Amino acid sequence: MEQKIALIGFGTVGQGLVEILENKKSDLISNYGYNYSIVAISDIRFGTVYDPEGLDVTQLLAEISDTGSFQHNLTDWDALTLIKNCNADVVCELAFTDLETGEPAISHCMAAFESRKHIVTSNKGPAALAYKKMKDLADKYNVMFMIEGTVMSGTPVLNLTSGPLAGCRISSAKGILNGTTNYILSEMENGMEYKDALKKAQELGYAEADPTGDVEGYDARAKVTILANVVMGVPCLLNEVTCEGISAITAGDIQNARENNSRWKLIGNVEYIDGNLTASVKPEMIALTHPLAGIMGPTNAATFSTDLLGDITIVGAGAGKIETGFSILSDLLEIHRLS
Ligand code: HSE
Repeated sequence: MEQKIALIGFGTVGQGLVEILENKKSDLISNYGYNYSIVAISDIRFGTVYDPEGLDVTQLLAEISDTGSFQHNLTDWDALTLIKNCNADVVCELAFTDLETGEPAISHCMAAFESRKHIVTSNKGPAALAYKKMKDLADKYNVMFMIEGTVMSGTPVLNLTSGPLAGCRISSAKGILNGTTNYILSEMENGMEYKDALKKAQELGYAEADPTGDVEGYDARAKVTILANVVMGVPCLLNEVTCEGISAITAGDIQNARENNSRWKLIGNVEYIDGNLTASVKPEMIALTHPLAGIMGPTNAATFSTDLLGDITIVGAGAGKIETGFSILSDLLEIHRLS
């Protein structure tokens, strides 16, 4: 059966998802029996479109490229009305991230659950600020809250622990969870000044337009909060994660680490010891022998300590149009498998 999809937000991630879906359409059908139609899109810049029979996404992409807005299939519905009234099975919440309020994404998720639609999202707001509320509501309405893309984009971190590592007790998760800061620290090792490395990270599209969330650790803190709730299964609030960024690291600190066979990394850490959870984001001097020390540039990585397998480290992309688009696809396929 065809999976009907609504996209709330049609920026980089939404367009990345559409590119993958279109390019892989025949493989998805033949390999996984997965077929889809995109029935609704709402975007703050382009407008809102709906066709219960399926939209022509290629035409819509041409319209926004030519005119900056959608021209056909327009509806007056706002995003919430669209979510409630459209015939989608799954709502992909890909609107902007707000780590202060979680809005409008939290309201979008609630409207989807209450109208018995699954949510797939890479937006960190709902998961970092209201994971339990979102999960409980999804469970109440017997739908899924799928958030693989919130941590390390499409690199399968959350699905790794709930899938292949199921049965292991995970006592800690420690990772490089922000690409911008890892890129800056890597470039500083090559002799670049902090402010120049940050500027280059912005030019290359790793850093947010306002990079404060990256360099002060707030982006990584949201991801640590999600790891605590999802991987460790411990309720954890964003403000319970202590947070320090990299803006105070100097060229002298970098040199000092080098002389001690170490390297500075912005480390997100969550540990569950004797019933107590500790969660933090802070710069740490990591010995060069540690698996996380070799992770350079914008790449992310996470090490999970397990009782049955010891330490497992996964390394991969933490951001990007196709990489995050893939995270949405993997959750859509999982919903298809389980439906
Ligand atoms: N700005 C983030 C990073 C993007 O640098 O990792 C992914 O959340």
